[in-house]
Formats: sequence, structure tokens, C-alpha cells
Amino acid sequence: MSRDPFLADTEGLDPRGAARILAEFPSQCRQALALSASPPLSRASLRHVVVAGMGGSAVCGDLVSALASDRLPVPVTVWRGYGAPASIGPGTLVVAVSYSGATEETISTLEAALGRGATAAVLTSGGALAALAQERGLPLVRLPAGLLPRLALGYLFFPLLGLLESAGLLLAQAPERDEALRELELMGKELGPERADADNEAKRLALALRGRVPVIYGSGLTAVAAYRWKTEVEEIAKLLAFHGSLPEADHNEIEGWRDPLAAGFHAVFLRDPEEDDAVATRVRLTGELIRASAGGVTEVWPRGRGRLARLLSLIYLGDWVSYYLALLRGVDPWPVPAIEEVKRRLRAAKSRR
Ligand code: PA5
Repeated sequence: MSRDPFLADTEGLDPRGAARILAEFPSQCRQALALSASPPLSRASLRHVVVAGMGGSAVCGDLVSALASDRLPVPVTVWRGYGAPASIGPGTLVVAVSYSGATEETISTLEAALGRGATAAVLTSGGALAALAQERGLPLVRLPAGLLPRLALGYLFFPLLGLLESAGLLLAQAPERDEALRELELMGKELGPERADADNEAKRLALALRGRVPVIYGSGLTAVAAYRWKTEVEEIAKLLAFHGSLPEADHNEIEGWRDPLAAGFHAVFLRDPEEDDAVATRVRLTGELIRASAGGVTEVWPRGRGRLARLLSLIYLGDWVSYYLALLRGVDPWPVPAIEEVKRRLRAAKSRR
């Protein structure tokens, strides 16, 4: 019997216990249901919701935006950057999300939004963003501190759903939410380090991706999961990764797979049992066309029936795949030294101005 490469060779690579935090993700989601804004956000007549954030904090906005697209009468968009889009003003709800509360882009968006008379709320564990929210009397959801933004998605996502619900925008009914949590709990038991690779989908996928650059494709709901996979592979495994979406990729990117360099890339298609027939056909055809030149082609399916379970299960699987890729690459999944260094240099440049 072949031995699980994760059990023996990777000891000591995760001294801060990212695996434990990942295993606790389902219970983090349950605890997050109890977090609410103080003061509460009032019901409002809105024409647009903007979630402002960067990196690991912005992802909760992507999830909400994907869920909202066929459920809410108002668009939910995600703003990553300084300032605010011109459309922001009265009638816009801006939710500023920053796990640390120190992200300058997000703070600048909140300031711009307040200056333009938008309704605003804040999700953070502290920092300057919490101070600004308190000073302006804004609805503030205070998140538990001590995690990494990308490992705090439950704390970021469920309170964001709650804020929207307070504003009169209901995105997921309780049964759909409960189903999602049950699926995550099952996955938590199946994907952890103690489960050998033969019986562990995340380990198997990481082994399949080893030595290649992952290119993750999704469509509709799964497109946001594809983007999250990319960012998790980059931050956790410290490996470049790319993402794309169908049908768009069939109009440009598919040509790139003809290059001999494509042998170093592995395509992962995030599927959805509810995807359009046309999309299903495209995934099959695209896979057939790139298979000869690609380093690998893999399909991944979500768990559960509801949109929330399908979306969160794909994301949770991707988080574990990134974790195991980190171990296979011999890197600690926890620190993000390059991200920290950019922030340090920005602060230094600012203090010199
Ligand atoms: O995952 C990370 O650490 C980053 O992508 C951060 O989320 C990003 O730099 C923004 O920081 P914060 O989430 O604290 O606003």
C-alpha cells in the first residue's frame, strides 16, 4: 500500500495550526451567525449595494454578489481599490469590510462614501476602520480577532448576509443556510489531515496539481469560487495561479492552451449540477480541446443542493487543496511575507511624504 505523502513528510510545516482553523471553519460559520451590527442597520430603500474590501476580506462580497445576481432586485458589486465608484451616493449601501481594519483602500472608500451621503456599515475586527465606524456612529460588526483574513471567511460572510437582511435584502432562507452548514461539517471530517489521500478529495487534488500552475475555471456561481481558489493557492501555497470563466474563456483563453508551455498548466473546471446545458457542453468541449496540450484537466463538483451549499462547499474544498499544495511545496501555509512587505513599504513611503 502506498503511504500518504502528507502524513510523514510534512511534519512541522504548519506550526501555527492553519489546519486546525480550516477544520474549524464549519463551526466558525455557525458562530458567525450570532454576530450582528451595533447599532443595527435600519431597513432602507436601496438601489445599489457596494461591498468595499481588498484581498481575503473582499471575497465575502464576491460570494454575496454571485448569490444576489438572481435573487435580489438591486445589484451587489464589489469595489477593490481607493475612493469610490461615481455611482455611490444616497440610496447606496456601502459595507466596508477589512478583517484587520487597517487597509487603506477600504478606509478611503468608506470616507468617500460617507462624503457622498451613502448609507454605510462596517465589518472588521478593529483598527482604524472600527475607530472610524464608532466615531461616525455607523453599524459595526466586530469580528473575533487573531485569525488571518482568508481563514476568517465565515466571520466575514455570514454577518454580511445578516446586514443585508436587516436592510430588507434576504439572500438565503434558514433551511438553505442550515443545509450549507451541514455539508461543510461533513466536509470538515472528510478533508482533514488525518484522512489519507486515498480517501481525501483535497489531498488527491493537490497531488494532481503538484508541479503545475493551476488554472481554475468556473461559470456563473462557480466563477467566484474559481477566483477564490486562485487567491488561496497564491496566498497559502505561494504559487502563481490563474482563473477564468466560461463561456468567456472559449472566446480568447482557449487559444493560449495551444502553446507548448500549456504542459506546465493544469485546468480545473468547477462544475455545478445546476449549470446551463450550454455551459456543460462547453466544459466538455473545452476539456477535449485542451487535453492534448494541458498538463492536466480535472473536474470538481460541489456538495449539497442549495446555491449556498454548492458555493461554500467548492470554496472550502479549494481552501483545503491550497493547504495541501503548500505542504507538498514545503511552505508554511500561514505567513504572507510579500503582502506584509508591500504594506510595510507603503507605510514607510507614507511617513516620508
Ligand atoms: O489574505 C490576506 O492577508 C490579504 O489578502 C488581506 O486580506 C488584504 O491585504 C486586506 O487586508 P484586510 O483583509 O485586513 O483588509
